[in-house]
Amino acid sequence: MAGQDDKFKKLVAHCKEYGFIFQSSEVYDGLSAVYDYGPYGVELKNNLKSYWWKSMVQMHENIVGIDAAIFMHPKTWKASGHVDAFNDPLVDNKDSKKRYRADVLVENYLDKIEAKINKEVAKAKKRFGDSFDEAMFRKTNPRVVANLEKHETIAKRLANAMRDSDMPGMKTLIEELEIACPESGSKNWTDVRQFNLMFSTQLGNIAGEEGKLYLRPETAQGIFVNFLNVQKTSRQKLPFGIAQIGKAFRNEIVARQFIFRMREFEQMEMQFFIRPGDEMKWYEYWKAARMKWHNAIGHPAEKLRFHDHDNLAHYANAAVDIQFDFPFGFKELEGIHSRTDFDLSSHQELSGRKIQYFDPELDKNYVPYVVETSIGCDRMFLATMSHALQEETVPDAKGKDSVRTVLKVHPALAPVKCAVLPLLRNKEELTEKARKVYNNIKHSFNCQYDEKDAIGRRYRRQDAIGTPYCITIDFDTLEDDTVTIRDRDTLKQERIPIGQVEDIVRNKVDMKQLFLED
Ligand code: GAP
Repeated sequence: MAGQDDKFKKLVAHCKEYGFIFQSSEVYDGLSAVYDYGPYGVELKNNLKSYWWKSMVQMHENIVGIDAAIFMHPKTWKASGHVDAFNDPLVDNKDSKKRYRADVLVENYLDKIEAKINKEVAKAKKRFGDSFDEAMFRKTNPRVVANLEKHETIAKRLANAMRDSDMPGMKTLIEELEIACPESGSKNWTDVRQFNLMFSTQLGNIAGEEGKLYLRPETAQGIFVNFLNVQKTSRQKLPFGIAQIGKAFRNEIVARQFIFRMREFEQMEMQFFIRPGDEMKWYEYWKAARMKWHNAIGHPAEKLRFHDHDNLAHYANAAVDIQFDFPFGFKELEGIHSRTDFDLSSHQELSGRKIQYFDPELDKNYVPYVVETSIGCDRMFLATMSHALQEETVPDAKGKDSVRTVLKVHPALAPVKCAVLPLLRNKEELTEKARKVYNNIKHSFNCQYDEKDAIGRRYRRQDAIGTPYCITIDFDTLEDDTVTIRDRDTLKQERIPIGQVEDIVRNKVDMKQLFLED
C-alpha cells in the first residue's frame, strides 16, 4: 500500500511539474476537487477525446454526434429523476467534524476484507508454488471462507439500504461494523441523511424556485431530449446511437484522489436506441466493444475488469462498470447501463409531447429502449497516465546505469509527437537547419523545437512528457541531409534522410494504428 501511495504521489507531482494538471485557482490556495489542464494535459486529453469520438462516431455509420448545452429546462431533471433521486448518503463525525459518504465508509471496510483474502491467497500461492489450486483454496480455507461470507453479507446489506434509501439502516450498519472516522478514530456519528448532488443557479432576474436552473450532472439528458430532432434530421433507423462529449457537474460530498472524483468533470457518453426486448443483446455487445477500446491503447487485461452493480441507479435494469486498477486500487472508469425506456418515457409524460419511433418493419410506434456507455474523460486521463508513467534504469551516454522517468503513452495519444533538437544551441548553422526541419513538419502533427540544455537533458524532458520521437540535427546533417531519430521506448538511434522523418513519425502516431490493432 505504501508503494502504491508513493506511486500516486509521484504521479500527481509529475502532472504538476510537467504541465499536465494544475489545481484550479492555485494562487488562492485552490478550489477543492476542481482542476485545470496545462499545455501537455490538454493535448493528451484532446487526443483521448478524439480517440473516443473517432471510434464511436466516425467508425459507426449508425452513430452520430451532438453538442448540447449545459443548461437545460429545469423540468428535464424532474423527469430524469435527478431532482428526487440523485442523492448520496451523507454522514458527519461529531468529533472530527469531517463529512463522509456513508456508502464509501462501508465500501472501504469491504475493501479491507478483500485485501485480507488476497493476502491469504498470495501467501498460500507462494507456499504451494505450481501445484496451487486457487479456486479450491478459496472454497476450503476456513479463514478465506469466513471472510468471503462476511463480505457477501455486508455487501448485500449495503445494496439493500441504498436501494431502499434506508438511511437508519445505513447508520446501523456503520455502528455494527464499528467503523471509525479515518481522521480521528472516533465512532461518534450523526444520523445518515440524503444529499442531492446537483448544483443549482438562478436564471436571469427570476427569483425563487421559478428561476432555478441546474448544471447538468450527466450529459445524457441532452441526448434524450434531442432524440426526435436527431433521428429525423440524420434519417437514422433503429438501432442507432447519439454520442456527446461535454462537461458535467456534481456536488460530490467527498472529493478526493486527484482528478478521480471532481465537482466539474467531462463525460463521453453514447446512448444507443434499440427495440424493446433487444436490450440484453446490445448490452453484451457494448460491454465487449468498450473493453476492446480500452485494450487497444495498451492497457493490459489484468488492469481492467468488469464489476456488476450491486445497487442499480434509478433508471437502469442492468449495469456494469469497467474498473481500472488505479494506484489506489480497482475503481470505476466507465459505466455501461441498460436504461430501458425510462428517460424517453418520462420526458414524454412530463412534456406532453410524443417521443416515439415508427418502426417500419414492425409497422408500429414505440418508445425505444436505450443502452448507454458512459466514461469520464478525466478518469480515462488518470488511468492512461498511471499506466504509462514509469521509472526505468537505462544506460546513460557513458554506458552507466541511470534512472529515467518516461511516459510510455501510446504514440497516437502522446501530447507531442516529435521533438526537433539541434545538437548545440550556439551554432547558428545547426539551429537554422533544425528550425527548417521543424517548420516543414509542424503542419502534420504536434511538434516541439527545443535548443535549451545539453542534448541528454532534452531527451529526458521529452521522455517525461511521452514524446515518441526525437530528431537531432548535428554537423553530419549539414553535410548529407540526414538526422538521428531516437525512439522513446527502445532508445534506439538511427540515421535517416530528413525526407523520411515526416512519414516515419506520421505512420507511428496515426490514430489509425489503434484501429488496425483490432
Ligand atoms: N449517464 C450515466 C452516468 O452519468 P455515472 O456512472 O454516474 O453514469 C459515468 O458516470 C462516468 O462519469 C463514470 O464512470 C466516471 O468515469 C465519470 N464520473 C462520474 N462522476 C465523476 C466525478 N465526480 N469526477 C470524475 N468523473 C466522474
